Amino acid sequence: MQAKTPEQSRTVMTDLVLPSETNPLNNLFGGELLARMDRAASIAARRHSRRIVVTASVNHVAFNRAIPLGSVVTVEAKVSRAFKTSMEVYIDVWIEDRESGDRAKANEAIYTFVAVDETGRPIPVPEVSPETELEKERFIAALRRKQLSLLLAGKIKPSQASELKALFD
Ligand SMILES: CC(C)(COP(=O)(O)OP(=O)(O)OC[C@H]1O[C@@H](n2cnc3c(N)ncnc32)[C@H](O)[C@@H]1OP(=O)(O)O)[C@@H](O)C(=O)NCCC(=O)NCCS
Repeated sequence: MQAKTPEQSRTVMTDLVLPSETNPLNNLFGGELLARMDRAASIAARRHSRRIVVTASVNHVAFNRAIPLGSVVTVEAKVSRAFKTSMEVYIDVWIEDRESGDRAKANEAIYTFVAVDETGRPIPVPEVSPETELEKERFIAALRRKQLSLLLAGKIKPSQASELKALFD
């Protein structure tokens, strides 16, 4: 299978924040943002693998900045690294200033998707070939994040988390 660049899976979804999607402070409800990110990330994983994909885990979410009612929100997802059957998808969330049109980073998240066949069994995916400095940084750190996610899920032992151990050596 030929490696693909993160750009080849890049998925951008832009939408408004409507009143039914807000919390009592009139900011975007966290669950609504999680759903938007999941949708964009699953399309990115599908573009990378050209397979059926399922969400295996949400590794990290940072709600750094509240997103007010009426905001124009852009969710941008790219596959940052692929392993054997799983893919890490990095999601950046931007909001757009109404008058200037300038974009500001609001949130980010990292999801893991697994490519599966029609019976739900994991199947191999192409590798990722990062191009930009940021893509290279995210690619390198993805292995550490995978090990942390598997460790927290009880799927590997601490002794198998070599990348995490290296952080403390
Ligand atoms: C995700 C799923 C396919 C994994 O199946 P599994 O039997 O655990 O398969 P494996 O153990 O072979 O894992 C498959 C890959 O997922 C990775 N993985 C599994 N759990 C993970 C986790 N918590 N974090 C990171 N990666 C994980 C494994 O490391 C493996 O990656 P690799 O092949 O690239 O090395 C299966 O658990 C599933 O179908 N879950 C439900 C998915 C779903 O319905 N999502 C929507 C939410 S309702």
